Amino acid sequence: MDSTPDVLPDLLEKVTNLAKRRGFFFQTAEIYGGFRSTYDYGPLGANMLRNVRTAWWKSMVQGRSDVVGIDAAILGPPAVWAASGHLETFTDPLVDCLTCKERWREDKIGGVCPNCGSTQFTEPRAFNLMFKTQAGPVEGEGAVAYLRPETAQGMFTNFNNVLATTRKKPPFGIAQIGKSFRNEITPQNSIFRTREFEQMEMEYFVPPAEADEWYRYWIDARLKWYHDLGVAPSLLRLHEHAKEDLSHYSKGTTDVEFYFPWGWDELEGIANRGDYDLTQHSTHSGTRLEYFDQTANERYTPWVIEPAVGVTRALMAFLLAAYHEDEVEGETRTVLRLDWRLAPYQVAVLPLSKKPELEGLSKEVLATLQRDFMCDYDVTQSIGRRYRRQDEIGTPYCVTVDFDSLNDQCVTVRDRDTTHQSRVPVKELARHLHERTTLAV
Ligand code: GAP
Repeated sequence: MDSTPDVLPDLLEKVTNLAKRRGFFFQTAEIYGGFRSTYDYGPLGANMLRNVRTAWWKSMVQGRSDVVGIDAAILGPPAVWAASGHLETFTDPLVDCLTCKERWREDKIGGVCPNCGSTQFTEPRAFNLMFKTQAGPVEGEGAVAYLRPETAQGMFTNFNNVLATTRKKPPFGIAQIGKSFRNEITPQNSIFRTREFEQMEMEYFVPPAEADEWYRYWIDARLKWYHDLGVAPSLLRLHEHAKEDLSHYSKGTTDVEFYFPWGWDELEGIANRGDYDLTQHSTHSGTRLEYFDQTANERYTPWVIEPAVGVTRALMAFLLAAYHEDEVEGETRTVLRLDWRLAPYQVAVLPLSKKPELEGLSKEVLATLQRDFMCDYDVTQSIGRRYRRQDEIGTPYCVTVDFDSLNDQCVTVRDRDTTHQSRVPVKELARHLHERTTLAV
């Protein structure tokens, strides 16, 4: 399990170049020189982000009767972060290089300045990672607000609201997808670690005696989610944190690690948060966040198991895992072997030529397919070039409308991975593609 997988040299550069060239993501405010490792997602990236979120939501919420979703605010009062421990302990150790003055996270550089090689640093200072702002027109302590550094706290502060409105009982979960913000000292590696990012988190509330069993269950379930979405098992491994490395709230954490181009690194964390958060918020707010078990006639504070992953980091892992170069008809082609559920477009409609009669039928085919699939439409350049362009962005199926189509009402469906082509009647096209994608709509 720990052997080093074979990956293409320069994979990171290849994928980030492709991402920019084809419109997955761009540097924010690029025309102004970019903005501090913040990214904007282009037409393909926006589609793919939606697909990553949907795949997660389907597996974590839609497909389960024991998990419900919420959508909590990004801005919050200091009281939440005092209770959660983030005001005090959500810090990184910051050092300045005495030679070149660059600022680093002490725990990430192994005592040597990555910029100039010096080993002389200032004493480490605790640097809080939360973004602080003010709410309302009046400045001062009363107006302080924070951008959330994790979505999790929204699930804890709404615990009673969700219990009362859904009548769920442990074991049950509350899930959320949304933006989080951290003033990372050394953001790096493209979209891997950024200051603005998006998380998918689920807090699973369980009777304390069942915590360990559910912790194992969720580690297993989350690893399977990546396998099911086509990530090669050799690119994934589990890493259990040593006790001394645990976050302030954690009784145990296991990371799903992905083999990134710079080595094994965290993709997702699954933590046993114990009763830390509900207890802290109960104490700080004066509102009891507990569950009353009527059958046993006892009140208790559930423990929490939390699978947490970044949408943007997952997107990066999916892109890296899908990137391949192979040979078709003697030519090297770049192909993203993305699962159809993640691909920015599931289908591309390609009229063989720009002749109006072909475009007419092609637009009809497109309109039919657009009801069920995210479709691209491309009329420029040779058909071979257009296939390559779709391969490169991971489109699983190309539908070509040619002159024969006008007579026989059939089109050619080409498969991205095998490049196999088959002739399919237009009337059966949607069903044909549904069978291949089992896309639920
Ligand atoms: N609620 C627990 C929590 O937030 P975390 O390990 O700090 O735990 C969970 O974050 C996941 O969020 C990480 O595994 C990663 O996928 C993503 N994440 C965290 N910081 C990130 C950043 N600066 N940029 C992109 N993704 C990040």
